[in-house]
Amino acid sequence: MQKNLAILGTGKMGRTLALGLNRVHAPFKFFLYNPTSEKAEKLADEIQGTAVTALDQLAYIDVILIACRPQQFNQLAFELRPVLKGDELIVSIMAAIPTETLAQKLGVSKIVRMMPNTPNKIGLGVNLFYFSPTVSLPERTHLLNSFALFSSVFTLEKEDYLDICTAFTGCGPALVFEWARLMMEIMIRQGINPNDAHKMVAKTFLGASTLLMSEGKSPLELRQEVASKGGVTVEALKVFSDSKMEQIIEKATHQAYLRGKELQENL
Ligand SMILES: NC(=O)c1ccc[n+]([C@@H]2O[C@H](COP(=O)([O-])OP(=O)(O)OC[C@H]3O[C@@H](n4cnc5c(N)ncnc54)[C@H](OP(=O)(O)O)[C@@H]3O)[C@@H](O)[C@H]2O)c1
Repeated sequence: MQKNLAILGTGKMGRTLALGLNRVHAPFKFFLYNPTSEKAEKLADEIQGTAVTALDQLAYIDVILIACRPQQFNQLAFELRPVLKGDELIVSIMAAIPTETLAQKLGVSKIVRMMPNTPNKIGLGVNLFYFSPTVSLPERTHLLNSFALFSSVFTLEKEDYLDICTAFTGCGPALVFEWARLMMEIMIRQGINPNDAHKMVAKTFLGASTLLMSEGKSPLELRQEVASKGGVTVEALKVFSDSKMEQIIEKATHQAYLRGKELQENL
């Protein structure tokens, strides 16, 4: 059944998810709102949706996807709360803001927290979901099925798991891109043509992650297939180990988690 979906905030991620949902057999009719109204109007043209210039123009909406930044939420909640009937399903993709705060600031109880990532742009996104207990099974199923049409969906049992995983899947692409950037720069410094370096690194990441998905082997097993004893790869891996690579990744992801908690406190 087609439901009415309002997307509030048509920036990078709101737009990406709208385009993803629209790419498949659209399970939603779209209503789009953004303070800079041109962004909502452009997207509405692309997906045959309706752009609205004020929140009180939203009527008969089943699902509201909040896609502004956490720091913009207080203003949005102030404007949205008087417009809500109370039975809408609220889906928030904002990092860090817990269901309890969303429910309290909006005066509604059916809350879903979702954590997308940028590969949704190409149909390879990871979308995490946490449902508050008041969200019914049919509502959960409709939402999960809709997003599963163009991405990989995961339901998390505890809300804190969503905050933990955010650092790995939501932030994850940026960590991978940073690693790719450093590899490319080092290659370029040593004389490799920049275009070649870009393609070699991108294809290496693509090939390695495809192997990880398709071979049914653990990263350790796949690593061992590359790093034969006495060879060149083991020397590189030894530097990772001596430099405490695991601790660096743990510290980086934990720092992202802590920033989420800090944003929560400052709301
Ligand atoms: N980017 C990612 O990779 C990623 C991944 C996972 C989750 N997220 C989450 O997605 C959310 C959006 O991130 P983003 O990267 O898409 O940011 P963004 O490009 O800055 O988009 C935010 C949008 O929200 C709009 N906005 C501002 N105030 C608003 C209000 N009161 N009501 C409705 N819309 C409002 C902004 O409009 P104006 O331009 O007119 O100010 C802007 O278009 C964040 O909460 C973030 O935590 C992002």
